[in-house]
Amino acid sequence: MNTDENIIKMDMGTLRGDASAKDGVLCLGIESSCDETSAAIVDGNRNILSHIIYSQIPEHQKYGGVVPELAARAHILAIDTVVRQTLAAAGKDISDIDVIAATAGPGLIGGVLIGWMAATGMAQATGKPLVAVNHLEGHALVPRLHAAAADGTDLAAGVEFPYLLMLASGGHCQILLVRGVGQYEQIGQTLDDSAGEAFDKVAKMLGLGYPGGPVVDSRAQSGNPARFKFPRPLCDKPGCDFSFSGIKTAARTMLDKTPAPYCDEFINDFCASFQAAVVDCIVNRLGHAMEDSRVRAAAPRTLVVAGGVAKNSAIRAAMQRLARAHGMTFAAPPLNLCTDNGAMIAWAGIENYRAGKIVRTPVAPRPRWPLTEL
Ligand SMILES: Nc1ncnc2c1ncn2[C@@H]1O[C@H](COP(=O)(O)OP(=O)(O)OP(=O)(O)O)[C@@H](O)[C@H]1O
Ligand SMILES: [Mg+2]
Repeated sequence: MNTDENIIKMDMGTLRGDASAKDGVLCLGIESSCDETSAAIVDGNRNILSHIIYSQIPEHQKYGGVVPELAARAHILAIDTVVRQTLAAAGKDISDIDVIAATAGPGLIGGVLIGWMAATGMAQATGKPLVAVNHLEGHALVPRLHAAAADGTDLAAGVEFPYLLMLASGGHCQILLVRGVGQYEQIGQTLDDSAGEAFDKVAKMLGLGYPGGPVVDSRAQSGNPARFKFPRPLCDKPGCDFSFSGIKTAARTMLDKTPAPYCDEFINDFCASFQAAVVDCIVNRLGHAMEDSRVRAAAPRTLVVAGGVAKNSAIRAAMQRLARAHGMTFAAPPLNLCTDNGAMIAWAGIENYRAGKIVRTPVAPRPRWPLTEL
């Protein structure tokens, strides 16, 4: 593996924050919970000074999903280069950094261990404060670093607490009332698969490769969403929980009746019909969440989507319409901050550091770590 070839340097031109603010704390954040080794340096004024993401996707693509053992090995090979390049790109030395933060879970434990041990080692060697970041909190708080409109345009300003959050990623699907740092109230959750998993599995059935979300999103744009009849699980029921396994089973059953190969029109219509079902479920459940007594009492002004699935154009557009209909503002992270990245971990590191939540005794990384346990 040539790590340098796979390193993506982010466009930092659109990622400037409020330089007039007074808190210049510098945080080095490290993310390694799945198939991205990433590091970023972010300051308290919401500037991203440098951001490097080494994506392992090419290594996992031939297996149709992430292979945990391969992921852990790839993180070991990449971590030093990624951290060194992140410091160099910002023109900083480790001695310039005020806080070190890393994902300490949840995620694939082999990968989490590598990033967390790298951060712990640097913190111990330099005496810098260390923050153990919950990966989901990284996704949940990154809209406060930068927010974007439904079409992905950067809005520059971060979102204020409280907000109603649709957290949809590869491994999770939850509706949360975000009251503050470490204050997450779960309003709904999936009873089976995550939304990202449903996108990935349906793409795999169609032979569209991994990860499935981006390709289904793009195919759906030229498809007919009314051609295939997918169920909308739980949408006739009260409450805010999701179920995506029935949509996935419906996809399998329909495809079994039509053997491959599939023509482009079939694939586009299938993707559009599947995606429309997912969007309808999200809109229905969020509509119920807005009526929840806890949400009404907190009166959040912003409806936010975060996590890798937040890149989806149809979900963004539908949530923007829903927010407008309820007199709320819609916000999402810019597209490059939706999937796993070091900047969201550095930002969560800053928010936790400001709240005094630093590691004072050794912390073991956790494969499972619900946000509601923070
Ligand atoms: N445009 C898109 N539409 C729908 N899904 C998308 C899109 N882009 C990416 N995804 C999905 O996002 C997921 C990856 O997101 P993310 O990196 O947040 O997940 P993860 O870190 O593996 O899971 P978790 O954060 O729950 O641990 C994949 O399932 C991918 O298919
Ligand atoms: Mg993630």
